[in-house]
Amino acid sequence: MLKGLFAKKKENGLDKNKLNIKDLDPLNIPKHVAIIMDGNGRWAKQKGLPRIAGHREGMKTIREVARVANEVGIKILTLYAFSTENWKRPQDEVKFLMDLPQEFLRKELDELIEQNVQVKMMGFDQQLPEHTLNAVHEAVEKTKQNTGLILNFALNYGSRYEIIHAIRNIVDDVLAGNISKDEIDEKLMNQYLLTKSYPDPDLLIRTSGELRISNFLLWQIAYTELWYTDEFWPEFNKQSLLQAIYEYQQRSRRFGSL
Ligand code: IPE
Ligand code: IPE
Ligand code: MG
Repeated sequence: MLKGLFAKKKENGLDKNKLNIKDLDPLNIPKHVAIIMDGNGRWAKQKGLPRIAGHREGMKTIREVARVANEVGIKILTLYAFSTENWKRPQDEVKFLMDLPQEFLRKELDELIEQNVQVKMMGFDQQLPEHTLNAVHEAVEKTKQNTGLILNFALNYGSRYEIIHAIRNIVDDVLAGNISKDEIDEKLMNQYLLTKSYPDPDLLIRTSGELRISNFLLWQIAYTELWYTDEFWPEFNKQSLLQAIYEYQQRSRRFGSL
């Protein structure tokens, strides 16, 4: 009922580029938002700067988006920061990207703590340099008592490997007699994925105009609403996130039903 009234109010001339948090339906805020933060390199190139300048600028966007997500009442914000395929990039760029978490957290951790944010990491530890892992683990440790937004960094994350990894662990558990083959269902599979403590994303955002998934959360986005923008990640801002959520709220999610 409340939700219906709210939707009605919305139809009367709302400027989509000047949204406020109060223009959103508080009863229909996506719980889990995932973002493919893309376009840092192109943003830099367009300004005649080296690609790494784009990555540095992109950190500012992370700060703003986390703040707004928290304010709006999103529970989980999963950010694709480095894929299992990104190791193919030039060594200098990879090194810079591996230094970024430390730099970001050195600057932002106090404020994240103050904002009651819980920092988490989702990805494969193996290839990550020690200083990168240490910085992230410290942030996770220092924010684990917090109860606000879960800021989940997908770092050295790749969905195909995540699924392979899950299958291997399931097979191990079947062979060890911990579970039987017949118990393997969607619910069990979810428990073996890196997202096991989170619900599936409600909304997936990709910046920079690319319309692909790039090995992100393949299993989890079966019924996720997709939204994209031509803005490069360093240009994405509060207004962009509010617009994405606003448009999400206009959609009808049917999950195969009527
Ligand atoms: C996204 O920006 C950041 C990472 C993938 C680490 P890109 O670095 O992919 O920037 P473009 O897509 O080359 O512009
Ligand atoms: C996806 O962006 C990975 C991250 C945002 C971390 P990419 O820039 O690596 O994706 P492709 O290569 O354009 O598919
Ligand atoms: Mg890219």
